Amino acid sequence: MASLALELHGISKAFGNNLAVDTVDFTLERGEIHALLGENGAGKSTLMNLIYGLYQPDAGEMLIDGKSRIVDSPKTAIDLGLGMVHQHFMLVPSLSVAENISLYAGRGKFRFRRTEAEENVQQLSTRYGLSISPQVQVGQLSVGLQQRVEILKALSAEARILILDEPTAVLSPQEITELFTILRRLKSDGHAIVFISHKLKEAMEISDRITVLRRGKRVGTTAVDDTSPTHLAQQMVGHQLPEIQRSEQTPGDPILEIRNLIAIDHDGRRIVDGTSFDVRAGEIVGIAGIDGNGQIELVETIVGLHRAQSGTVRFNGRAITNLPTSKSRQLGYGYIPEDRQTEGLILSFTIAENLVLNVHRLKGYRSKLLKGWAAFLDLKRIDADSAELIQRYDVRTTHTHAPARSLSGGNQQKVVIARELSQEPQLLLAVNPTRGLDIGAADYTHQQFLEQRRKQRAILLISTELDEVLALSDRIFVMYRGRLTEATAFRDDLSKIGLLMTGNWQNEW
Ligand SMILES: Nc1ncnc2c1ncn2[C@@H]1O[C@H](COP(=O)(O)OP(=O)(O)OP(=O)(O)O)[C@@H](O)[C@H]1O
Ligand SMILES: [Mg+2]
Repeated sequence: MASLALELHGISKAFGNNLAVDTVDFTLERGEIHALLGENGAGKSTLMNLIYGLYQPDAGEMLIDGKSRIVDSPKTAIDLGLGMVHQHFMLVPSLSVAENISLYAGRGKFRFRRTEAEENVQQLSTRYGLSISPQVQVGQLSVGLQQRVEILKALSAEARILILDEPTAVLSPQEITELFTILRRLKSDGHAIVFISHKLKEAMEISDRITVLRRGKRVGTTAVDDTSPTHLAQQMVGHQLPEIQRSEQTPGDPILEIRNLIAIDHDGRRIVDGTSFDVRAGEIVGIAGIDGNGQIELVETIVGLHRAQSGTVRFNGRAITNLPTSKSRQLGYGYIPEDRQTEGLILSFTIAENLVLNVHRLKGYRSKLLKGWAAFLDLKRIDADSAELIQRYDVRTTHTHAPARSLSGGNQQKVVIARELSQEPQLLLAVNPTRGLDIGAADYTHQQFLEQRRKQRAILLISTELDEVLALSDRIFVMYRGRLTEATAFRDDLSKIGLLMTGNWQNEW
């Protein structure tokens, strides 16, 4: 039998009266990739944070390499050979790759020796086949490359047990393939890896065994050959999910009109390159594409966060090109931004406050006693409405006044979705709306989008999840290097869409 790298016996952890991890047993073998699945708030990150010494368990025992250990801090964890890549990155954007890695690995050393650090990163990068330039500033890297830095960081301290908390949530399909190659290499090298994901197919592809958590408890552990996506889904949510049914429907007038839009990135390139399209009432328009092809800049140009060099954006017939976001948002569109933590929420604010961010002016939350004083809000109504939204969107929390920071990643995303959809906006701009959501919550969100469509609302859906775009959209576009190509006719021909996404279609057709 392969030797056990990690054993957990009866581990529990409560936050107040919320039992986040409930007497969990778990084993991890050397040379094993073990997937950990479960709904948003099931306790996956908490369990991993307990192993990594970020939290202390209330009960239970942990063995590392057969020895009972108390991991009282991440420093102890690192010394015991553990490395963790967190759900939300922990890199310093203004520092270089080498600086970030030495900050972590060079704990206790007083001087930073640049050449040495850079050589060190170079060696690591060659050794593990994770190519990266040590000098480049982390903030300049794509998320895929930042992910690579996180993994190198963990490996730099000789980690033999690696915990990867939703590493693929922000990666493109190609980057996922590359990551899997790296993980397989690490595995054959004897590393033990825990892999968290919401994508069942992916978990089945990469792992040897799968453990499912449900509301803090371990539901089961199975060898990957003995289970199926349907069975896993059943274990995670306890019931089958409905299929997406998109009925035929005639669209109405254009709500969003984009004409010859051009926007430039910081290197002076046309990141949005002469784009024109409409989104009509009662229609979902989907834009597929690999991250970094201008989709984000397109939306940011529409909402006024990125400058349009030329062209026009019209919302309900009114030109809003280069109108500041604070002004344009008052016109009443919804916006689910790319990054829930930096753009979607204020993490230190309560869940209730986050649920009315930006919308408080629209929804008449001003106190009746003091009409006209925007600073005085009708707190009772805010509380009542938030409680309802929390229930409807199944945000897993113990109370509405907890800070948004205390929510699990997926539950933070639900708050953003609940807020933006609750206004039933005439136009919704959604960027990767289901990123980090479990299958049940993603399905609920999809059903809500279709409900808005039935109510003749317009939705622009931008997503790197091709399945999501194909299932929901009336019209499909692919964005590649700033240019949009309509691909509705190829809905059933994934290979053609794939060629469009990688820019290879001119050569092939
Ligand atoms: N620091 C904290 N303070 C209070 N409650 C917390 C804290 N961290 C986590 N929780 C709670 O513990 C529970 C489990 O959260 P956890 O982050 O482990 O879920 P998860 O399975 O990783 O979910 P996701 O898929 O959304 O990332 C949730 O109810 C969450 O609100
Ligand atoms: Mg988590």
